[in-house]
Parts: sequence; structure tokens; C-alpha cells
Amino acid sequence: MKMPVVDTGRVIIVGAGLGALYAALHLAPHPVVMISPEALGQGASSAWAQGGIAAAMAAADSPEAHAADTVRAGAGTVDADVAASVTAEARAHILELTALGTPFDRDAQGGYVLSREAAHGLARVVRVRGDQAGREIMAALIAEVARTPSVQVLEGVMAVGLQAQEGRVVGVAVAAADGASDPVMLRGAAVLLAGGGSGGLYALTTNPPRIRGQVIGMAARAGAVIADAEFVQFHPTAIDMGEDPAPLATEALRGGGAVLINRDGLRFMQAVHPDAELAPRDIVARAIFAETQAGRRPMLDTRAALGAEIVERFPAVAAACKRGGIDPVTQPIPVAAAAHYHMGGIAVTWEGRSSLAGLWACGEASATGLHGANRLASNGLLEALVYGRRAALDIAQGLGDAVAPPVVLPSVPGGQHPDPDLIAQLRQVMTENVGVVRDAGGLKTALRRIAALEAQAFGDANFLNMTATATLIAAAALLREESRGAHCRRDFPQVNPALAKPSRLTLAEALAQRQIVTETQE
Ligand code: SIN
Repeated sequence: MKMPVVDTGRVIIVGAGLGALYAALHLAPHPVVMISPEALGQGASSAWAQGGIAAAMAAADSPEAHAADTVRAGAGTVDADVAASVTAEARAHILELTALGTPFDRDAQGGYVLSREAAHGLARVVRVRGDQAGREIMAALIAEVARTPSVQVLEGVMAVGLQAQEGRVVGVAVAAADGASDPVMLRGAAVLLAGGGSGGLYALTTNPPRIRGQVIGMAARAGAVIADAEFVQFHPTAIDMGEDPAPLATEALRGGGAVLINRDGLRFMQAVHPDAELAPRDIVARAIFAETQAGRRPMLDTRAALGAEIVERFPAVAAACKRGGIDPVTQPIPVAAAAHYHMGGIAVTWEGRSSLAGLWACGEASATGLHGANRLASNGLLEALVYGRRAALDIAQGLGDAVAPPVVLPSVPGGQHPDPDLIAQLRQVMTENVGVVRDAGGLKTALRRIAALEAQAFGDANFLNMTATATLIAAAALLREESRGAHCRRDFPQVNPALAKPSRLTLAEALAQRQIVTETQE
């Protein structure tokens, strides 16, 4: 049966996280339709963000110092001009979020309370009640979207593909998020992809359950260029208590003095880096991974630094510990390195334009050049704000003042449920072979196994979006024969200065790489 087509006359935003909401507000009064797989505010990575937003708000700080830390953390592949421009805009976005009602922590004089996180030269992260920033910022934006008549939100619907005609994206295929209907093609004035990263492609992740690289995958399947796919950030302190996704123990705990110890009570980070627990995230993640691999059970010890205050100051961490039967006031918290943030994504320009006409991207789905090989903590939400706004302004330039009636989705009986067993296998393949430490043998195994899983998917678009991104990550990791930032190759342990540049790959190129590997028996 032919796919039904609905001409919306609206800008279509895929995703419902911070970048998506902010862009929708900045597009007003132009009509927008947002595609949200869950009820608004549920299931978006932004709402789970415990860290806050990095911004030079202190008198002793400056955007230049923030940019310098960003460039340093990114291990040689950050675009310094992008870092300068994003950090220069940070303050204005904090003020805008404040005006929209975000209850950032303030001191008695009304100044922003700033926390320190790893690899920042000074305290620079604005937060809300310790670990509640993502949730509270999202609540403020959702309330504003509800007051904005130009924004229509389609809840319970997810994007499964893009339609491109002569190199221009003209529509988005959407289906019921629970797999209970066949797709409908939504045509729109422009498409903005803001649907998150790829953490859920890994068996151990801090990302919400539905975030499995689908948005990057669908852009790649439409022909968009993907940048830095190999750079996946692993968070060192996911709480290791058997929950999927793994709850996060925010880096701010270490910023507040919590230490990392192992089963023997030894503080192992002091021997690894002069900044110990506040070393760059990739370094801490590898040290945690090494302790886990050696069976020494790494743990985050907040007892001396926070004592009983953890319950009030970090309610999300305390609640997760309680679910896991851990009392952080009297016990150290078991931790593991978990896939947390994809620095790579859809390559975009300063305006958020992808390589395909008609298609923009922002937030974790995009690669702007800000993060390089290792994102500086709390720069993720900042980037989503800066590029959400930039993309909105750029899209708006090409729009007239047409009004559009609300979109009514026809119900199309049918539907396809991705096989949970295939997804579980894919996640295991990624964690085992494309994880914290990689080598050519494991990456080739991953590419072969991804191809085999894909062949069992019977054309399920949702799963093919996941395998497209998994293929891009594994192929880009195989091609980068060096160790840099979060990308660590056991067979190429050194940085190669000649490779200090972003990678760019199309899905066709990644598939050609996969084909070579699958045809070679080793
Ligand atoms: C954290 O709070 O540790 C995470 C912050 C981030 O990923 O930027």
C-alpha cells in the first residue's frame, strides 16, 4: 500500500528535548509540528541531564577561558572558532532561560551558584537543586511551548525515515512510537532533527531507553554527511546496580569532593592524572573501565565530602541509590563507565544546516565542531541552546507568513515492532567491541555482526536507523588509527598529530568499509 502523505505547511521538528523545544519557541509565530515519541518531557536525554549548563557567569571567568577549556578537553579536533562563538553566547541563553522561569540556584546576593566539573579551570556550571537542571529547564520550556499557539506537538509518534527529492529533504515518515501503525509521510517547509544521540546503542548507557542513534541513522540513510562518528563519550560514574539505563552519579559530586576508590579502598585516580578525580572525562572513564576489567570494583565515595547532605543536594542520585539498595551516606556507590554522549553526529554548519538542503540538525544528533574528541562537561545543553536558536533563525529566513491548520494524522493499520532480541544483541556487540577501549579485531567483528543482525531485520526502518549509526561508529573507529580523546585504540595507543581533524563519512562509505570487512575472513 502507498504511504499516505500529509502536507503540513509547518516546520517539522523531530525530537522533543532541549534543542527541539528551544528551536520551536524561536520559530514562533511560524507554524511548527514537533514529533515526540513520549509525552512531552518524558524520554528526552535533556530531561535526564544532571549537570547544568556551562557558562562564564562569574566575574573571574570569561568566554575566552571557557573556550580554551573546551578546546583543551576536545583533544585537538575542536573547531576553535565554533568554541569561541558558542561560549560567547552562553550568558545570553542562561538569562533567557531564567526569564522563562528556570529556577537556577542563586546565592543570597542573587548571583548564580556555580559548580565545578572535570576539566573546567574554575566553577562555571549553573545548576538547579544539585542534579535537577535538565528536568527543571525542560519544565520551563514545556510550559512556554504550551503557551505558544504556533507549536503543535504530536505525542506518541516517532520518525522512522526521511524523504529526499533531488538532494532536498521534503518530508519525514512517522509512525506510532509503540509500533502499532504503518508510517505516514509528513511534508513540511523544513525539517530540523533534534532527536538525541546514540548512547542506547550500547548495553551499558545513561541515555533514556528510546535514544538509540535512530535520528543520526535516518539522516545518514538519506545521504547526509556524518562527522566524528567514532567519538562516543563514556561517563565514568554510571551507578552500577543492574538498572537499564544505568542512573548517573553526576560529576558535580566529584566537583564537590567525592573520591573514587576501589574494592581495596585505594584512591586510584591520584596515580593516573594530576587532577585526580577531576581529570578529563575520557581519562577518568578509562581508569574506571580498567578497575572494572581487573575485578577491583570501582566506587564513588561521597561519605566524607557530603555525608547526609547528598540526599538534599543531589536528590536524583540519592533516589537512584535508594532503588538500588545503596545508602550513599554510609556506603560508597558502585560505578561503571557507560555510553553517555555522542560527540559525533550529523555534520552541520554554523547555522545548523546539514549537507542536505532542507535539513537542519541541533543538539546531540548534530556534530558542530564544539566537542571534538571529548566533550567538556555541561557543554551539551549549551550547544543544544545555541544551535537550536541558530537553526530556528536560519529556517525562519526562508519562510513566508503562511498559517497552517493543525496536523491530523490518519490512522494506518499495520505497524512493525523492532525485535527486542535483535536490539539487545546489537547493544551487546557495541559494548563488547566498540566501547571504551577498541582494536581492529573487535571493530571488524562488530561490523560483521551488525551486518548479520541487519539482515535479520526484514527491512524494519527503526532497526535499520540503529544499524546505520552503529555501522558509522564502528567504521569511523576502525578508520581512525590512533587514540584521541574518547576514542582509545589498544592497537594504536598514541595520538597521531597528522590525524588532528574531524572525520566525515557518508553511510555509503561506511557500508563500503563494512563490505570489505565482511568479505575478509580473519
Ligand atoms: C554530569 O553531570 O556528570 C553530566 C554532565 C554532562 O554530561 O555534561
